Amino acid sequence: MPKDSKLNSKSDPQAGSDRSRPILHQHAHEIQPYGKIAKLSIALDESVCAESAENLNQVLADTISLRDLYKKHHWQEAGHTFYQLHLLFDKHYEEQNELVDTIAERIQSLGAISLAMAADVAETTIIPRPPRGREEVPVQISRLLEAHEMVLKEARTMAKQAADSGDDGTNDLLVSDVIRTNELQVWFISEHLVDVPLVRADAPASEKEAPKSKSAGAR
Ligand SMILES: [Fe+2]
Repeated sequence: MPKDSKLNSKSDPQAGSDRSRPILHQHAHEIQPYGKIAKLSIALDESVCAESAENLNQVLADTISLRDLYKKHHWQEAGHTFYQLHLLFDKHYEEQNELVDTIAERIQSLGAISLAMAADVAETTIIPRPPRGREEVPVQISRLLEAHEMVLKEARTMAKQAADSGDDGTNDLLVSDVIRTNELQVWFISEHLVDVPLVRADAPASEKEAPKSKSAGAR
């Protein structure tokens, strides 16, 4: 060992610690550009993987938007049904969040790249942007129902396309996860827009008059 380095390691407390320091501010080329397929051994043609991934990225962007719409309404909810809808909106948010991960990981399994960041989602989604401000419950639910219907419509078309291409995994995900989850959520929130009375039944007009008591009739 050179005389100088032996001297340095003893006198300099920093010496010998370089390898344990984080290497910051690193940059390099992407290893896979967006839209390109890194073919995996899943017995599907690259063209099928590319078509399914493109469709799934559309459903992914729309599912992220729908998920976030639920969280917006969870926070901004107001009125008599606050507690009930606050909880329901968050439950649906969590279920949509699980769908997001399932869809994204299917895209990666096809050798493609899933969308991830908010700006890319905003550029891709077909779900209309809601205002930043608070809205009444019927408007919140109407927005959610319209978004659900957009997702369901595209998911059904894409599921058929995947089945026709032999991509059973994507077809199964779209039918078993996306379509079934969205249909069930539609039912749960739709029932909040049915205008039924809370306390007094909406009886026919002929039954609305109070029945005469027997004692009153006998007099
Ligand atoms: Fe919360």
